[in-house]
Amino acid sequence: METLALAGKEHDEHRQGEAFKPFSNDPNTYKKSFYVESYGCAMNFADSEVIASILNKEGYGATRNVDDADLIFLNTCSIREKAEQTVRKRLTEFRKIKEQKPGTLIGMLGCMAERLKSKLLEEEKLVDMVVGPDAYRSLPGLIEEAETGQKAVNVLLSRDETYADIAPVRLDSNGISAFVSIMRGCNNMCSFCVVPFTRGRERSRDAHSIVAEATDLFNRGFKEVTLLGQNVDSYHWINEQNNEAVTFAMLLEKVALIDPSLRVRFSTSHPKDITDEVLHTINKYPNICKYIHLPVQSGSTRLLQLMNRTYTREWYIAKVNRIFELIPDCGISSDIIAGFCTETEEDHQDTLSIMEHCKYDMSYMYFYSERPGTLAAKRYTDDIPEPIKKRRLQEIVDMQGVLSTASNQKDVGAVFEVLVEGNSRKNENDWSGRTSQNKVLVFPKTAGIDLKGKYAQVKVTSYTRTTLLGEQVG
Ligand code: SAH
Ligand code: SF4
Ligand code: F3S
Repeated sequence: METLALAGKEHDEHRQGEAFKPFSNDPNTYKKSFYVESYGCAMNFADSEVIASILNKEGYGATRNVDDADLIFLNTCSIREKAEQTVRKRLTEFRKIKEQKPGTLIGMLGCMAERLKSKLLEEEKLVDMVVGPDAYRSLPGLIEEAETGQKAVNVLLSRDETYADIAPVRLDSNGISAFVSIMRGCNNMCSFCVVPFTRGRERSRDAHSIVAEATDLFNRGFKEVTLLGQNVDSYHWINEQNNEAVTFAMLLEKVALIDPSLRVRFSTSHPKDITDEVLHTINKYPNICKYIHLPVQSGSTRLLQLMNRTYTREWYIAKVNRIFELIPDCGISSDIIAGFCTETEEDHQDTLSIMEHCKYDMSYMYFYSERPGTLAAKRYTDDIPEPIKKRRLQEIVDMQGVLSTASNQKDVGAVFEVLVEGNSRKNENDWSGRTSQNKVLVFPKTAGIDLKGKYAQVKVTSYTRTTLLGEQVG
């Protein structure tokens, strides 16, 4: 298995390329229909909701059934080779639908579209449209072009596109939690990473439009927003009216102030950019969740340097210590890469020991996959044999299993406020919700009481590696 996520996180599972199928729209409202499947990170899922908004305006309604669709879109991810292989396989299945229904148009959107550009049209003839992440406003024109049999491509990256004025159409939503994109792109150039090439330069979205979107969600009954960016702590928006800068801490505060019953989450934090100001803001507002996703990538300073992460092992540990000093009950999680170029057994041991030190509640764990065009692909040799990468990854996964179990065990006897998201996946007589620390907590329903979208006080009585189990006490 290439990747493993511990601690059942529904939003975050999207990162692994799980297909996502939108709801059906009333066929009377829309003249045509589109189907979109999204892969990769939460940003891609948020983008599909922007795309749905643009397409709705053009008279296309979303369908869950690919066989009914006039337009089929794949919103794709390039982060690892496996992610691209999954999409290619899916495309061949869509080609078969097109053979039966020749009028159907197939579009590739997102990061793989950006990376491969017109290669997908010319060499492989796999798709009719190729549209990069900053070009979704041009979709209506591109669809028209494709309808006349031309090959439609727009992979221009932008320095200022944030889709700030487009109200996303929530797809397949539970009506309780939603993503709100606060920035796009990434300037960090971690050497292993393709994102700066597929998503372009970092830019921050107008703070007013973020607060307005979150307020609108709250007014429609949503109880939780997750502010999204590749590196949220470097959010920086200048209000041109008064020349004032809005930092991430200030933005967090603005969103938290919408209503005390609206939970606020955010992802992802780059360790180099998260500030004390952000940590103090988290502490100040009970509705800002005490949970930080703080990817370490490796525990070896030498590797961190090759990865261009700009911090050392010691610096990262000091940051984690600071988080626990200021927010003792904070949940933290990580992303870890096994088998990056030149990694020795000693480097690998450093990764295992930093995990132990930080006591992550959960991690996303991967083995290194070289991506064409990245700094690492240009500068270093992908020299760790796959069996070694896999063995190290397994050791990392096993370590996380031990840490997740210990973290859950520690919660037994404690009472948490849980935002109930719906039925437990395993048993519809149980509710499932999350604690502020982002752990899933499952507890039995009381007959006749609907708690979906409500807060409950739940005492933890036992646990599995991925879930806390408890009983309602308030
Ligand atoms: N912006 C986020 C992460 C984006 S990508 C951050 O900086 O933390 C999500 C994760 O995928 C990364 O944190 C990294 O662990 C993993 N990843 C990125 N490129 C990879 C590659 N080439 N091979 C394996 N894993 C990779
Ligand atoms: Fe990739 Fe690094 Fe940017 Fe994250 S911070 S998206 S890992 S370049
Ligand atoms: Fe994948 Fe692009 Fe996100 S490469 S992880 S979908 S930014």
